[in-house]
Amino acid sequence: MLKGISKNFRKPQGFIGSVLLNGMNKGHEKLTKWALSQVEIGPGSVVLDIGCGGGNAIHLMSQKSKNVFGIDYSEVSVKKSGKKNAYAIAQGNVKICQGSVSALPFENEKFDLVTAFETIYFWPDLPGDFAEVCRVVKPGGCFMAVFQNGLEESTSRKLEGSIDGMRIYPPEEIVKLMEDTGFAHTAMIEETLQPGWRDICVIGKKQP
Ligand SMILES: C[S@@+](CC[C@H](N)C(=O)[O-])C[C@H]1O[C@@H](n2cnc3c(N)ncnc32)[C@H](O)[C@@H]1O
Repeated sequence: MLKGISKNFRKPQGFIGSVLLNGMNKGHEKLTKWALSQVEIGPGSVVLDIGCGGGNAIHLMSQKSKNVFGIDYSEVSVKKSGKKNAYAIAQGNVKICQGSVSALPFENEKFDLVTAFETIYFWPDLPGDFAEVCRVVKPGGCFMAVFQNGLEESTSRKLEGSIDGMRIYPPEEIVKLMEDTGFAHTAMIEETLQPGWRDICVIGKKQP
């Protein structure tokens, strides 16, 4: 049972996946809102959320922009995000598709902002995947990766041990990777929103 649940953080599937996505929409909202307060999204911004899960970040961003895209490789996540954003999709303001971060189905330099909330832990090839993100970001646009680290190293290692396929990265490694993959100006912002955890937002700006 626990093994079944632990797999669903990486790729939500079936009934358990669907229930977990409801929980993540709620449980990640504070972190998501805090991270979104670090970036500017205007009515004309073209935005992509990768690993969109239950679709709450898309919902929040669609209150600011009428050009929000979401992608996730889990069929259940795509369905859930679609349901959460049904009205905005019907209005033509949001589009959600199924696919992997490693092969984004978008043209070069399409997005002003690409976001990734609580998902980079599971990406299969971080240098390659960050380069793929960089490909779809406009010059002068940004990539924001939002993730957590335990305040104690042992907290991160314990979580990694209980969630299938998870790797928790030190923020400095993410900053360096962004710089190495084409994001010239990279900033790290940190907060403690949940006791015992570091909430981290790394924002890389692609060279204009
Ligand atoms: C822990 S959930 C986070 C969901 C949502 N971003 C949130 O903050 O609540 C991770 C999500 O990333 C998706 N994901 C993981 N690896 C992916 C990949 N390689 N490509 C696309 N989506 C991926 C999973 O399917 C899942 O929906």
